[in-house]
Amino acid sequence: MTIERKFIDKFLNVTSKAAIASYNFVGKKDKIAADKAAVDSMRNELNKLDIKGQIVIGEGELDEAPMLYIGEKVGTTKGPEIDIAVDPLEGTNFVANNLPGALSVIAVAEKNNLFNAPETYMEKISAKIGEKGVIDLDFSVKKNIFNLSEYLNKKPENITACVMDRARHKDIINELNKLKVNIKLITDGDVSGALLVTNEKYKVDIFLGIGGGPEGVLAAAALDTFKCFFQGRFLFDSEEDKIRANKMGIDDLSKKYELNEIVKGDSIFCATGITAGDLVSGIKIKNNELISETLITHKSSGMKKVIKKVVNR
Ligand code: FBP
Repeated sequence: MTIERKFIDKFLNVTSKAAIASYNFVGKKDKIAADKAAVDSMRNELNKLDIKGQIVIGEGELDEAPMLYIGEKVGTTKGPEIDIAVDPLEGTNFVANNLPGALSVIAVAEKNNLFNAPETYMEKISAKIGEKGVIDLDFSVKKNIFNLSEYLNKKPENITACVMDRARHKDIINELNKLKVNIKLITDGDVSGALLVTNEKYKVDIFLGIGGGPEGVLAAAALDTFKCFFQGRFLFDSEEDKIRANKMGIDDLSKKYELNEIVKGDSIFCATGITAGDLVSGIKIKNNELISETLITHKSSGMKKVIKKVVNR
């Protein structure tokens, strides 16, 4: 089974409208209002689609998120059963402070084919490698870099690693420095960070570190179509997080997930730029037109491209 191509345009429309809604809050120092605008728009648009959709990754659970909560049903119900992961505004800081890299993101797969991820941190690793065993979450940073160096036939000093600028990554960063690996530090936005390995033009060979679990699943959907390597392992700090995860059906809390355990079968991924970033441009206004750019992947057709959309204001 596949997700029909006609849905590509429909999901592109969902993220581009959410991006435009959030764009109104760029630089206004209000993360909550910017997020709410994107969420409201995304929910509204998803509900117009002829799908029997269910949110598997959303804004939290019903008690903490009134909209696009995990388990929420969306769509007219006249259509295929679809699992949906959303991050209506990825990079709330970016929009609030008018910084590059804010995206509106969605990933969809057929029912039961997208991992139901808890809102917790995830240890992640990605690279443009088609096979297993070269890099691995269980390897040390040194082993990953040496293996990658051999695989790419590049010296460690010619390798670039993307890492989020967080105190928790001190050891990783120190080790990379010792190995003379170039580091691209990002302040936020690790959906984009994980996807920088997909194309040589971004000049990133490996992404590693800890970020949001939901963001990991979203990135995995696109990495699957790009035939890249990805592994993720959830990290549970509190008892509450562990109970939640058990309730979601995760029994082994320290399991390392391979890409094909996170996303199976066909998928569509759309990420529309709100502010300009590495992957896509931000929303632009020209005369009476709003121009958006969306990175789209569709696994079954092999589509992976940036599409420009122009709408009247
Ligand atoms: P928000 O858009 O929800 O603010 O998330 C941005 C983000 O940078 C994600 O890309 C990343 O996975 C997560 O925050 C990291 O969390 P933390 O800031 O707690 O390290």
